[in-house]
Amino acid sequence: MCHDCSAGPSLAAAATSRRSFTRFLAAGAGLTVLAACTPEAPAAVAPSSAFASSPITSTPAPESTTAAPATEVAAPVAPSPAPSPSAALPRQFSVTDPASPWLVVNKHRPLVPATYVPADLVAPAVAMTASGEATLLNSTTAAAAEAMFAAAARDGVAMVLASGYRSYATQVATYNNYVAARGQADADTASARPGYSEHQTGWAFDIADGAGACSFQPCFADQPAAVWAKANGHRFGFVVRYPWMFHPITGYYYEPWHLRYIGVEAATDMVARGIFTLEEYFGVEAAPGYP
Ligand code: DAL
Ligand code: ZN
Repeated sequence: MCHDCSAGPSLAAAATSRRSFTRFLAAGAGLTVLAACTPEAPAAVAPSSAFASSPITSTPAPESTTAAPATEVAAPVAPSPAPSPSAALPRQFSVTDPASPWLVVNKHRPLVPATYVPADLVAPAVAMTASGEATLLNSTTAAAAEAMFAAAARDGVAMVLASGYRSYATQVATYNNYVAARGQADADTASARPGYSEHQTGWAFDIADGAGACSFQPCFADQPAAVWAKANGHRFGFVVRYPWMFHPITGYYYEPWHLRYIGVEAATDMVARGIFTLEEYFGVEAAPGYP
């Protein structure tokens, strides 16, 4: 396995913790697959609506963090000073509205309302292994996914949608499966609690390789779909939301399969400026654990 540790803020810690970290992920892989197959509630498909953006309500002041690592294998990392999105970007959006592409939801920032349902869920026209409501994304993300999957295919990379929208009720079942299997502390490093998941917003989805290799496993990072998405996702508005070794900031271990839409301008801005987490980019506090 060859994760790109250059993305991480704590390389020494990465070297010492990689073995236990990999064991952790490997142990969780089967459960992740299990969770991905969790029976889902009926799809709640609403008519498409115009993309709902709202002016950014306020740009949170940069905050320092006293964040503890998610687990004992994690190294504490102090996020760099919050840079905030470039003022040169043509549009600015809310980081609190769940209908905004710049929403930041993490362990410190639950969805409001907790049972939020996107108004414009649609099934993108892409190859998928997902079923039921997990085939859905919000309309903006669906369009971007269609463009990205087509571009990957043109480059000879097969990519499939493995899991998209998850309702609050589905997240209850998913999270509870994790807790039952390995306890709450470990569950919290891989699965969001209900009301705290990006999957509930329609802005995020999980990909798999065309051949299904290493799905939801650490070795997925080296599969063509993951390598391509990491290198090209920003061109379509996506970022890898939980990058390698940034779990003290994001609260979750590396998920090379989990892509989040924030728009082409912001995603490209993040890449250009070498910023890897939404917490740092949008200037909100790190969220290694629940308050
Ligand atoms: N696996 C991500 C963190 C989720 O459950 O939303
Ligand atoms: Zn995901």
